[in-house]
Amino acid sequence: MNFPEHLTGLRNLSKTDIDDIFELTGIFKKKIISKEPLEKVLGGKSVINMFFENSTRTRTSFEFAEKKLGMDVVNFNESGSSLSKGESFTDTLKNIEAMKFDFAVVRHPDSGIITVFRDLTSSRIINAGDGINEHPTQGLLDLYTLQEEFGSLKNLNVCIVGNICHSRVALSNIFGLLKFGVNVSVCGPVPFIPGYIEGLGVSVYTDIDNAVKNNDVLNILRVQTERDASALLPSLTEYSRHYCITKERLRLNPKIKILHPGPMNINVEIDYEASVSADSLIFNQVTNGLAVKCALFTLMSKTDF
Ligand code: CP
Repeated sequence: MNFPEHLTGLRNLSKTDIDDIFELTGIFKKKIISKEPLEKVLGGKSVINMFFENSTRTRTSFEFAEKKLGMDVVNFNESGSSLSKGESFTDTLKNIEAMKFDFAVVRHPDSGIITVFRDLTSSRIINAGDGINEHPTQGLLDLYTLQEEFGSLKNLNVCIVGNICHSRVALSNIFGLLKFGVNVSVCGPVPFIPGYIEGLGVSVYTDIDNAVKNNDVLNILRVQTERDASALLPSLTEYSRHYCITKERLRLNPKIKILHPGPMNINVEIDYEASVSADSLIFNQVTNGLAVKCALFTLMSKTDF
């Protein structure tokens, strides 16, 4: 079995590898839904979860998947670590390496830092979101959710809406969706759309109503105020007036489905009624995220350590 040793992003993951993940995801999903206990196939393997940014869905689902599979789980918290006493990042990683974890799950605000973890440790690294670079497990769970809903993804029209320039979710989705033959577009105000995006093979809308009418799916992104996204806009109220996905707006396309990676800014990029409407796949995404992580660990463990 030649599954990659690390998951740094979807840019370099093959469609075959993704198909393998999804085949196993389906098996895990059935067991999760029926609350059937999983076999502890990864008993004896160890994992450290290193989250340098806050998280609800990603952190919880990784830890839950790890425990369901029988792994020895350690959670590293930056605020409770000796980084707060001035220990350097490199020394911190060298000490973690000395404990010989089989896997490290890493979320960090710095784009591209995953390669430093990969190069300084012998653990298998899973990127749980690095800065504005990639969030590959979110990309996988989004793709899986669409495959579950639509079957084949070929020629599906998916528009990623909102704060594209600060979004690791956007990039992982774009890399993944294009491998499956999806027609990918983005929509948002000009300051939110990076200049390189069309070079990736993605088209651009600035009018949200046209995006709703012309697509099968909207993947609605959070306006990332913690990355100063609001500084690019006159105001969040103005953004909401032009781009908020409301139940009324969704009526422009009776067949539309919506995704949101969470956490949602209700009444900024999406209103509550839209988020819980029949068009919403948002909570399916969360269940699928748990199943995807079970599949990922299982496949990554099959390659010889
Ligand atoms: N989608 C996502 O990454 O959510 P969390 O930040 O809560 O993990």
